[in-house]
Amino acid sequence: MRTSAQDGRYLASEGDAFFRRNFEGKEPPELRPNKAVILEAIQSARIAFRRVLEYGCNYGDLLARLRDLALADECRGIEASSAAVAFGRERYGDRIVLDQGTIADNPVNSDEGNANRFDLVIVDDVLSWVSRETILQSAANIDSALAEGGFLFIRDFFPDRKVKNINHHVADGSVFNFKVPGSHAAVFLATGMYEIHWQKIWYDDIGMSTDYKCDNPFNYRWTDAILRKSHRDWFSESRKTP
Ligand SMILES: C[S@@+](CC[C@H](N)C(=O)[O-])C[C@H]1O[C@@H](n2cnc3c(N)ncnc32)[C@H](O)[C@@H]1O
Repeated sequence: MRTSAQDGRYLASEGDAFFRRNFEGKEPPELRPNKAVILEAIQSARIAFRRVLEYGCNYGDLLARLRDLALADECRGIEASSAAVAFGRERYGDRIVLDQGTIADNPVNSDEGNANRFDLVIVDDVLSWVSRETILQSAANIDSALAEGGFLFIRDFFPDRKVKNINHHVADGSVFNFKVPGSHAAVFLATGMYEIHWQKIWYDDIGMSTDYKCDNPFNYRWTDAILRKSHRDWFSESRKTP
């Protein structure tokens, strides 16, 4: 198991701080608008799945909706914030299963029975928040939980180059967002085990219109990508010539 100060920070405080910033004093919606867009993408991509795992699922609204629409029989979520996990457990009961953890270190991946178990894994705006010390362990855990032929949904920044920026909510400047060209979908594509099944590239007009401005306009470019996994299907074979 790999750990890092940044992942530890999310587990200990920043996950809860994110939950509080968004929901303190107001009732979290049954399905947030950004999650509704993901549901629409999954439905329009016409992919087949029954067991879903979401990493960084917050309070699990998307998982609960997938279960309620009978689009999945089993929905599990991993989230760094204990407050979000407690809220989701209380609201959704046994319709979904939530646990606190990071992508690199969590109860789903530490149980070998979950290897290749899920046919849809969702990672929405989380991979750029993962420490570079644990990003490869995180990618390995995602791949390990996903079945052969299964789908990986990634929402991530889609910048023109490698950039990092400080999480301005963390006063000591110790937490960064790491953006990589082609998004973190590129990490999976580079293995030869993943192909793009569906993709949308878009600009965050809301982010661009807030007071927070940055020096790289490409920081506002995002992608939603659905990748399909196979350890054998995507290679063309070259043969020995006579
Ligand atoms: C910017 S939010 C993205 C939106 C989030 N996916 C949601 O559904 O609300 C990042 C989320 O990922 C969680 N997180 C941060 N680092 C993580 C990690 N290493 N593993 C799992 N979750 C993490 C945070 O607690 C937070 O809920």
